Amino acid sequence: MKKSLQIVYNYHEATKHSRLKYARSLGFMDWATQPDPFRTYKGAKILKLPLALENATPPYHLLDSNLPSAPLIKESISQLLQFSMGIAAYKESGGSSWAVRCNASSGNLHPTEAYLVLPPIMSEQDAKSSTFHYSPKEHALEMLASFDTSFWEELPTNSFIVGLSSISWREVWKYGERAFRYTQLDAGHAWQAFVVSAKMLGWRVTRLEGVSDADISTLLGLSQKDRFFEDELPDMLFVISPEDINSNLSLDLLIESSPLKFSGIANKLSPSMQEWEIIPSVEDATSEAQIARPKALKSQLTRSPSKESKDVVLNRRSVHMMDNSSITKEQFHTLLNSVLFSQDAKENSAHLAIFVHRVQGYESGLYILIRNTKEDLKKELDAKFSWNHTDFEHLYLLKKGDFTAISKAISCAQNIASDGAFSLSMLCNFTDELQTYGAHRYKELFWECGAIGQQLYLEATSMGLSGTGIGCFLDDEIHELLGLKSNRYQVLYNFTVGRGYVDSRILTRPPY
Ligand SMILES: Cc1cc2nc3c(=O)[nH]c(=O)nc-3n(C[C@H](O)[C@H](O)[C@H](O)COP(=O)(O)O)c2cc1C
Repeated sequence: MKKSLQIVYNYHEATKHSRLKYARSLGFMDWATQPDPFRTYKGAKILKLPLALENATPPYHLLDSNLPSAPLIKESISQLLQFSMGIAAYKESGGSSWAVRCNASSGNLHPTEAYLVLPPIMSEQDAKSSTFHYSPKEHALEMLASFDTSFWEELPTNSFIVGLSSISWREVWKYGERAFRYTQLDAGHAWQAFVVSAKMLGWRVTRLEGVSDADISTLLGLSQKDRFFEDELPDMLFVISPEDINSNLSLDLLIESSPLKFSGIANKLSPSMQEWEIIPSVEDATSEAQIARPKALKSQLTRSPSKESKDVVLNRRSVHMMDNSSITKEQFHTLLNSVLFSQDAKENSAHLAIFVHRVQGYESGLYILIRNTKEDLKKELDAKFSWNHTDFEHLYLLKKGDFTAISKAISCAQNIASDGAFSLSMLCNFTDELQTYGAHRYKELFWECGAIGQQLYLEATSMGLSGTGIGCFLDDEIHELLGLKSNRYQVLYNFTVGRGYVDSRILTRPPY
């Protein structure tokens, strides 16, 4: 077996939580070294963006219809960023205040940073392409590089590039060795936050495949290590465009035109860092080039009329208490539909094992939503499961019963898993995917799960419901419950949906 795959398998095993032992972490919050959640670049020119709060946005339920595309101007870039990675509100309680953002993040630690590579649209005097870092705190762009390139001629008019990167230290600070997983889930949340914000402007997001981590680093300036204190590593690049583009686009021309030295020195996030050897080792093992995968069609969604889309993204919040009430069958189906993603489901890797507690028209029990029809999961799961068809095409009832206590237990005894309408575990085809596509695929599997999580949050919010991502779960206890006998399939993320209590002790202030 390739060494990089062995490192990934070892990392995954070593960072499992179980009833007897949680993955290794410091076990307390070392407030003196708490990382700054906001990256800034000292010396970079700052371009303040106009706030988009007053912009009219399409109703959320129409986001998957063919909306007219907005022009590529500073105002639309501003809206894209504010409603994906921007601050949604400030919260205040017990004398402290903290920012919450449109993209969810494990522990609100926000390891994901966003960069833009834009054709010459930001300044009339300076007709050059530029690379920017997005600063959510100021809602501003920091200019890191400016250059001439003919690269844009290869793309539809009004296309540009977004890059995501991660500073895993922000998660490692609290979660220790399991933090690499959370960092990748958060990158998936950010990706889907961009997909939805782009739809509000009639734009499409195409994630580039076949691009190496080294190329992303070069393009975003992350490879210039003397500009950084803590490691900031590349995640993914996508092209945002009025139309879908080929995901195997070559970036050679853009990379050749980009300067070798960028402006701006990254701020130091903490006075010192804990060292967990396993983290750089798995980061290194998963930094190979990605291998392109088959493409699938996007599905058309039917939804009931809903609020304006900006109100959905700005009001998405995690809840920490659910009220035990039920949801309707239609709401349940809308939620499932929103994460099917494709009609023939060739590209999906995650299936959803769903613990239905309170959905009208559904018996309580364990269900499975199949998101990749070519896989025969039946052979892998407990042979005693009934596999009864339901009213929803790809959803099967595996076992009737009350799973409230079990779902709470497997989600690290968190009540949100049992007190909602349902909770779920994202079950990924693990070893086959890694063996076929290489160690980098480990990160991509988490990205897919994170994207599902972000979409569930938004879909729930659009219907007046709530959700919460659950990164703390007992890995092998869930595998046992599903009757899995090998490590071929692994659960990478849990999620819960229901009606949340609003904590009236926490005050909310406007974002900017
Ligand atoms: C990957 C991931 C894992 C999470 N795990 C948990 C969890 O186990 N328990 C929990 O109560 N919240 C969990 N959350 C919710 C975060 O704590 C929440 O997103 C964060 O505090 C920011 O708040 P917001 O979602 O309202 O913006 C998780 C969120 C993400 C994205």
